[in-house]
Amino acid sequence: MLYAFELSGEHDVLPRKEVLSCLHIAGLEFREHADFDRCLVIDISGDHSDIDELLAGVAGRLAMTHHIVKVAGICAVEADAIIETAEKLDISAHITAGQTYVVRAKRIRDSGGVRREEIEGRIGGSIYRKGFRANMKSPDVVFRLIMTDRAILGSVVATVDRGDYEHRAPHKKPFFHPGVLMPRVARALVNISGIRKGEVLLDPFSGTAGILVEAGLLSAHVVGIEVRQKIAHGAKMNMDLFNSDHSLLVGDACRIPVKDSTVDAIVTDPPYGRSAAIRARSLHHLYSGSFSEMYRVLRKGKLAVVVSEMQVSDHAREAGFSLVDIFTQRIHGSLTRTFTVMRKE
Ligand SMILES: C[S@@+](CC[C@H](N)C(=O)[O-])C[C@H]1O[C@@H](n2cnc3c(N)ncnc32)[C@H](O)[C@@H]1O
Repeated sequence: MLYAFELSGEHDVLPRKEVLSCLHIAGLEFREHADFDRCLVIDISGDHSDIDELLAGVAGRLAMTHHIVKVAGICAVEADAIIETAEKLDISAHITAGQTYVVRAKRIRDSGGVRREEIEGRIGGSIYRKGFRANMKSPDVVFRLIMTDRAILGSVVATVDRGDYEHRAPHKKPFFHPGVLMPRVARALVNISGIRKGEVLLDPFSGTAGILVEAGLLSAHVVGIEVRQKIAHGAKMNMDLFNSDHSLLVGDACRIPVKDSTVDAIVTDPPYGRSAAIRARSLHHLYSGSFSEMYRVLRKGKLAVVVSEMQVSDHAREAGFSLVDIFTQRIHGSLTRTFTVMRKE
């Protein structure tokens, strides 16, 4: 069965990687069917109701997806083709007798002559003629048309509560310090790290605990290390508000007080060297020392995800990691963020 993930446009690569990682964590058997502009279509094997239930859990983890849609048909972005798809759809896979519906259309790309309200009305009419009643205010089923490189029609199986991330914006937390990743980026990286409920996630440069809060909300046991006492204290205030199961230590990322091979995932955002935030002989020492410590404490086969303003692949390889993925994000002017995903083989 095909499922479409309507992705946010906040990054070229992160939303897609996040989806694939979360499907893997959920234990779903899947393969990529199509990769459209801001819409990833995945073929998932198994029983429909089991899949829908697992996808509701996936939506609870995701940060950079808007909706997950069970696909009824994919066609050209042309009114006639869309209506033909609506007429032909196997309605029983999406709505049952007595349930009400609404149709919502989303235009991601220029959709030629297809007007949103008009196409919503025409698809709605087609479903009405199959014997269902529309309900604009509280429908049982939301049919969704995503108009991107192709038109994808289906029913929404889960919606990501993106507003929740706004409530955790850095300036709304009890302790704020500049240089924090936004919660949605932090959550996407935590997802990409592959961490599961009950496992241990480490951030050796925890700062105000932006990454740890997101991992803690997924029921990971989180461990943070921060060299500055005042910031570590603030991190604890933030953690106390959102999560219970955490350990925050004042210490040096180049000497992590954790046993060898005991950590299941690392996600971290080391200092970039533009401020007084570095506590080491040099940026080079900080990166080489902390990378070899990250390698030591991580379990075999597990991932570390590092956000940096410079290429860190040499440090990663020297520490023993193999590189899984590197992607970048242009923030502004001269500032480009690099995301490096590496594995301890
Ligand atoms: C870019 S900030 C991390 C921001 C963090 N993601 C957050 O949510 O606030 C890097 C942090 O590393 C800390 N730091 C610098 N040198 C360190 C060291 N040797 N060991 C541990 N932490 C260090 C800094 O004090 C700073 O808080």
